[in-house]
Amino acid sequence: MPAGAVSSQMAPASAVASSGSSLLSLAGDNPYFQAGFGLLGVGAAMTLARTGSIWGATVLRRRMLVSLEIDNRDRAYDWFLGWMAHRSSSAAKSTARSAPWIRSHELSVETMIERRPNGSSSVFFQLVAGPGTHWFKYKGAWMQVKRERETRSMMGGQQTGMAVPWETVTLTTLSRDRKLFPELLAEARDLGMRGQEGNLVIHTAWGIEWRPFGKPRRKRPLQSVVLEPGMGEKIEQDIKAFLARRQWYADRGIPYRRGYLLHGPPGSGKTSFIQALAGSLSYDICLLNLSERGLADDKLNHLLSNAPERSFVLIEDVDAAFNKRAQTTADGYQSSVTFSGFLNALDGVASGEERIVFMTTNHVEQLDPALIRPGRVDFSGLIDNASPLQARTLFHRFYSGGADAEVDADELEVLAHNLQEIVEGRMKNGERVSMAALQGHFIRNQPREAVTRSLELFKCR
Ligand SMILES: Nc1ncnc2c1ncn2[C@@H]1O[C@H](COP(=O)(O)OP(=O)(O)OP(=O)(O)O)[C@@H](O)[C@H]1O
Ligand SMILES: [Mg+2]
Repeated sequence: MPAGAVSSQMAPASAVASSGSSLLSLAGDNPYFQAGFGLLGVGAAMTLARTGSIWGATVLRRRMLVSLEIDNRDRAYDWFLGWMAHRSSSAAKSTARSAPWIRSHELSVETMIERRPNGSSSVFFQLVAGPGTHWFKYKGAWMQVKRERETRSMMGGQQTGMAVPWETVTLTTLSRDRKLFPELLAEARDLGMRGQEGNLVIHTAWGIEWRPFGKPRRKRPLQSVVLEPGMGEKIEQDIKAFLARRQWYADRGIPYRRGYLLHGPPGSGKTSFIQALAGSLSYDICLLNLSERGLADDKLNHLLSNAPERSFVLIEDVDAAFNKRAQTTADGYQSSVTFSGFLNALDGVASGEERIVFMTTNHVEQLDPALIRPGRVDFSGLIDNASPLQARTLFHRFYSGGADAEVDADELEVLAHNLQEIVEGRMKNGERVSMAALQGHFIRNQPREAVTRSLELFKCR
């Protein structure tokens, strides 16, 4: 750039400085300039007001509002969503209009399957607050509910193969209504627990913690599992005696735990009986899979010593976890729970905590004697294929008192007796039938055919 150009630009600048006062007076007279200054003033005032209002709102929120965050690892999370859904559905029933939050635009659906004792089931949908912001009124106070989902961080994925997004609900209300939070949560808990009454909750391991798996299932009546006479009662009495002796164990410094092993052929009712027993004692079940990916000795130890209160730890097919074939899966994955690690976890550190472990197997003869020694397994019982009497009892359970008018009670008695004799005769030839096979057969057939066609079921064992 030529030097002359610079000096020629400098000249007007000094000219402006020297004639500043004349310019101002010019601007004062010019209506356009006046409007510009006015606008500038208004803009500045608005910015100030906005900053002020944001600041005011923050102060107000800090001072006057109170928030409660619940994340989906907490049990209260499901209770709260269930409670909201319940409120909305009962409000919709009692008044023609729906509950306040139902009018919001973000909803999620929860599908529920209700199974009835007779085996039929019905499916219904419940609308719950989806991710987003919702409002509702509780005991005269307005509450804001914000449900947020963080899909980038997933929980539980690696261990279970199923990942759930991280979620939170944040409840916000006026400070003066903060006392309502505990009331609301207690109400939600009571509702949630009431829903579980009469139901069996099954937990599975998610990493190092136990979480309920699926919706609670309907309890199965203990008598519906037909075992060899006396067997069910024996196990039930044993566990009741154990539960009544907590102090006795504590006084003698014996770890308060008991192990049960139910062994026998497939489909004889081992799993069904354990579930029914848990239900009858109002216990939960913690299903532990020793071959699960990512489960190592330390995690197993943690899981076994941190099972939820009032629960049975159930380990199915214990033989499979440590036989060499099962230890390596098709894709070359090796279970990292060692047999000695498992034994140590079963022994655990001596603690006053109650622990009840149930194990099942189809091959008791393959179990290491170290596993079934007292202290690890205190009660071992054979749950076998159908005995003649079991077959007869199951037959009665299926058909007695049914709507089938074709067969009266007397004939049923004769049929049951015939079935008993068939099973007895076959047993002499070394042929057996499983209770599961009988159950399937009874479902498919009417009483008369069930008996005449029962011969097809038997297998040599
Ligand atoms: N003793 C029984 N009384 C009534 N029903 C039974 C009995 N045994 C089995 N069943 C029925 O058969 C099915 C399978 O039973 P279950 O799963 O309890 O057998 P299991 O002994 O655990 O078999 P597996 O060793 O293969 O695990 C269930 O639907 C159950 O209702
Ligand atoms: Mg089973």
